[in-house]
Amino acid sequence: MHSDLVLPLAQAYAEAHSTPEDPLLSAIAAHTREHHAHAHMVSGHLQGLFLTMVSRMLRPRRILEVGTFTGYSALCLAAGMPEDGILHTIECRPEDLALARSYFDQSPYGSRIRSHGGDAMEVIPGLQECWDLVFLDADKVNYIRYHEMVLPLLRPGGWMIADNVLFHGQVLEDPVKGRNAKAIDAYNRHVRDDARVEQVMLTIRDGLMLIRKKSELA
Ligand SMILES: C[S@@+](CC[C@H](N)C(=O)[O-])C[C@H]1O[C@@H](n2cnc3c(N)ncnc32)[C@H](O)[C@@H]1O
Repeated sequence: MHSDLVLPLAQAYAEAHSTPEDPLLSAIAAHTREHHAHAHMVSGHLQGLFLTMVSRMLRPRRILEVGTFTGYSALCLAAGMPEDGILHTIECRPEDLALARSYFDQSPYGSRIRSHGGDAMEVIPGLQECWDLVFLDADKVNYIRYHEMVLPLLRPGGWMIADNVLFHGQVLEDPVKGRNAKAIDAYNRHVRDDARVEQVMLTIRDGLMLIRKKSELA
């Protein structure tokens, strides 16, 4: 998928000059590629390292991930938590969540990762936390709703990252076609026009929106 948006040679060069993939993450990626019909959804080496680096910089005590899949990105984000950090992750497909859970339990972060099954729209309101970092990576048609639901619970000065904001390049078409691409395009405009946040869209993989809740907003 990312070969459409990122020059394959540049991708390979960047991977060759970045820290090698952690063996557990390699195992998750390999198993997902071999056994999962939607293997392209896994974050992968470079994006995973980026998430880890952001988490290491922020040292977030409370992380929310919306869209666990097979657990790759959750483990990348968990790597930057302090000792008392907790990551909550939500997945609606029980078989994916069970697989992710098995990987969490093989990692150093197992006891600090809370995995929740169900529809994120229903699970999020039950999590009474003040989030330091939120990773949006579930159903694209609900990104605006997740943004609105989570922003009040985000610590002032806290961070949100949204994946797939280039949606395989489909948001670049004129007119934008398809339900998901239209939803992502609407989300991108929603964030751009939201005075409560500042943001930068990064052209990593399928596009990542890095958002900061302005700290002057309580
Ligand atoms: C792109 S994948 C997540 C990839 C994962 N974050 C990673 O980087 O490896 C999106 C996941 O969100 C899940 N999902 C979609 N809609 C959801 C919802 N409403 N509630 C919870 N999970 C949902 C899907 O089942 C899928 O596993």
